[in-house]
Amino acid sequence: MVSEAAIEAAGRLIREGGLVAMPTETVYGLGANALDAEAVARVFAAKARPSFDPLIVHVADMESAWALADLDAVPAASRPLVRVLADVFWPGPLTMVLPKRGVIPGVVTSGLKTVGLRVPAHPVALALIEAADRPIAAPSANVFGGISPTRAEHVTVPCDAVLDGGPCSTGMESTVVGFDPGASESGVVVLRLGGTSTEAIEQVVGGAVAVAKPGEKIASPGMLERHYAPRTPLRIVERSNYQAIDIKGQKIGRLSLRGEAIDGALEFTAHEVLDPQGDLTAAAARLFEAMHRLDDTGLDLIVAELVADVGLGRAINDRLRRAAVQGK
Ligand code: TXA
Ligand code: MG
Repeated sequence: MVSEAAIEAAGRLIREGGLVAMPTETVYGLGANALDAEAVARVFAAKARPSFDPLIVHVADMESAWALADLDAVPAASRPLVRVLADVFWPGPLTMVLPKRGVIPGVVTSGLKTVGLRVPAHPVALALIEAADRPIAAPSANVFGGISPTRAEHVTVPCDAVLDGGPCSTGMESTVVGFDPGASESGVVVLRLGGTSTEAIEQVVGGAVAVAKPGEKIASPGMLERHYAPRTPLRIVERSNYQAIDIKGQKIGRLSLRGEAIDGALEFTAHEVLDPQGDLTAAAARLFEAMHRLDDTGLDLIVAELVADVGLGRAINDRLRRAAVQGK
């Protein structure tokens, strides 16, 4: 996969203020030294990311996370949940938004008093953090608003090095949670649906969580209506309603969970089946890859079918709905 020498060199690049695209289990990230405001500013520039959208900081273990977050400033009722969630889900696709300590420059958090922290579950990401000996701020390594990269080939933003760690196993960004004892039974608010299901979180915290909607004041700043979008227009369709699409002379690509038969004799130029068995976790892992492939096929339109709103299906539907919002 990635040689030790390549990781050492990339770690040096990070320390010197460079940008390194790194694999994580969720998506590829565009990493910079989280303690270096100038390097972080270059991340925003490389992605054309608006400065109001804060970055997630990646660390190698819990102790490193607590050095960057002020747990005493977490509401007392939520404090035990922070530790339990870290215990159960780190390393893995869960980001916790916590009060930040002063070492994190304001540019990382877009001026917010909180920082999003996570321990990624990819050996190359962990090795890079160790080699850099710095926390790494990393958004997904795509141009802002586009489809997230789940393979090294998908990384098109300018950077100083790309570490190719193969395809991402989760394939969906981390679930972002915040804490607000008044907001839900458990005091946990899901700010972005992602690779850790809300059901799994509810089971661990022993109560219902709230899920913020895009555009809501409580939602994370990056929860824009249009996001994760291919260049090709994408429309959500119901399998029973394919006849309603006017496709004369158009090249259409279909995105479905199991590739079920549809009414009528529609011809598709391309068809991406996410998982023939209908497994939503496997489907989530393939979603962005399938969207990248359809987007590279020169289609006039992509039609996509929503999946069941359970488990990682909720994150899949969230990404599809936002990819379908027209215009910028
Ligand atoms: O899986 C992931 O989370 C990937 C990999 C690279 O770790 N990263 C990722 O980063 O998806 P990005 O920048 O594409 O999305 C970060 C999300 C945005 O919606 C942002 O608004 C939210 O996390 N976020 C970060 N810090 C926050 C904070 N302090 N408060 C609220 N939301 C925050
Ligand atoms: Mg992103």
